[in-house]
Amino acid sequence: MSVITVHQLSKSVHSGDSAIDIMNCQALQVAEHEHLAITGPSGSGKTTLLNMISGIDVPTHGHVTVLGQNISQLTEEQRVAFRDQYVGLIFQDFCLFSGLTALENVALFKPDHSTLDECYKMLDAVGMSQRYDVEVRHLSGGEKQRVGIARAMVKKPKILLADEPTAQLDTKTAQSVMDLLFHLRQTQAMTMVMITHDIRVAERCDRMVSMESLSS
Ligand SMILES: Nc1ncnc2c1ncn2[C@@H]1O[C@H](COP(=O)(O)OP(=O)(O)O)[C@@H](O)[C@H]1O
Ligand SMILES: [Mg+2]
Repeated sequence: MSVITVHQLSKSVHSGDSAIDIMNCQALQVAEHEHLAITGPSGSGKTTLLNMISGIDVPTHGHVTVLGQNISQLTEEQRVAFRDQYVGLIFQDFCLFSGLTALENVALFKPDHSTLDECYKMLDAVGMSQRYDVEVRHLSGGEKQRVGIARAMVKKPKILLADEPTAQLDTKTAQSVMDLLFHLRQTQAMTMVMITHDIRVAERCDRMVSMESLSS
């Protein structure tokens, strides 16, 4: 069963009097529990595509169906609610609240029905047991991304979307963060789409697709 279906999707932005195409994806399907890697040159529209799958952005043409819901048709408020319920996001630049602690960052994203205990457990699962109460601005890059992963995972998302999650990390730290992500994927059933420049990471996924540069 397809969890994500992209249909004739494109995005253009206005520049002066003309419109410039910044993303084009004619067809893409991601099966339930599949782990898909998206690669491609910088500027080819990978982040724009991911933002349309998450509903952060909307297409100019075409649509995206996620878990049977045409999210391109939803209002912004409905897209936020959909994302809150089903989608975990991991960003290249972590996107954490730097003045809040690791625990507070995760707790902000926990579902209403779950307890703070779930947040502690999630931080334990990403190897941050000793760092619950440290403000994020005092953490290393690798630790920040571990908090980012805990925040994405605390809602037990059906879909995990990661945009170059190790791009800001040194090779060794990147390896351990990737190992963690692949481990979590084995312990929790979910569909994952990950943008990566690292071919070794892409090869660990079930399938790899490549976006082409729009100018070529
Ligand atoms: N809101 C925007 N306005 C104008 N150009 C944009 C906007 N968002 C992205 N772009 C441009 O669209 C292209 C694709 O961006 P992006 O999806 O971030 O590519 P990638 O993630 O593959 O590097 C880039 O050239 C980028 O500069
Ligand atoms: Mg990008």
